[in-house]
Amino acid sequence: MIVCPSILTADYCNLGKVVDDAVAAGIEWIHLDVMDGNWVINKTITFGPALISSIRKRVGSDIFLDCHLMVTNAADTWMQYVDAGVDLVIAHVEAVDDFPKLITNLHDAGCQAGLVLNPATTLDDVLPLLPDLDLVLVMSVVPGKGGQSFMPEVEDKVRTLRATVDEQISQGGRATKLMIDGGIKAHNIAEVADWGIEAAVVGSGLINDNGTIAENLAEINSAL
Ligand code: DX5
Ligand code: ZN
Repeated sequence: MIVCPSILTADYCNLGKVVDDAVAAGIEWIHLDVMDGNWVINKTITFGPALISSIRKRVGSDIFLDCHLMVTNAADTWMQYVDAGVDLVIAHVEAVDDFPKLITNLHDAGCQAGLVLNPATTLDDVLPLLPDLDLVLVMSVVPGKGGQSFMPEVEDKVRTLRATVDEQISQGGRATKLMIDGGIKAHNIAEVADWGIEAAVVGSGLINDNGTIAENLAEINSAL
């Protein structure tokens, strides 16, 4: 299981040290939650390409960066995140009209293409896209903030994705990675691993006042 910190709930005046501590603790993948003040239900604004570019400079080229675009115009702004240095752009299926076009654009730009779906969104529009997707991110909270409670009702969706990707791989197709995001802690990460999840976003479970990132990561890894 790859554990990917979300910096959403970090102290933004201290982000350089947060990412330094994450890397020092052995983290190799950082999840960047971009919100445009419009798309998520609570109209939050977080950060954009300028901060991401600074984070890329800080962590160097070996750390994998994804951006989770909770924005209304991902189809028009994806290039800004590629230029800022992310390895993977993850866009909401609910917010993109022509997803195949976005996947092609990202691949043509040398970037990995991911799709994310909200807890209430079915797989109907997702399964046909699987052969070309590098990653599917299943939201286990309603997007908009960190520290929310995990929604176990997404289990069936994850297990369906797992079975479909396994079949895809057995036919020589793409090994689309499965990721989950929202409410993941030490007490439930083994459960989602059992469902077939390969990477888990952890925000408040890693970056909090209870312990260092290294201490929190050790607790999470010991649960796997
Ligand atoms: C929520 C974000 C998540 C969030 C996860 O809109 O997409 O990545 O930061 O935070 P926790 O792990 O605290 O639920
Ligand atoms: Zn996220």
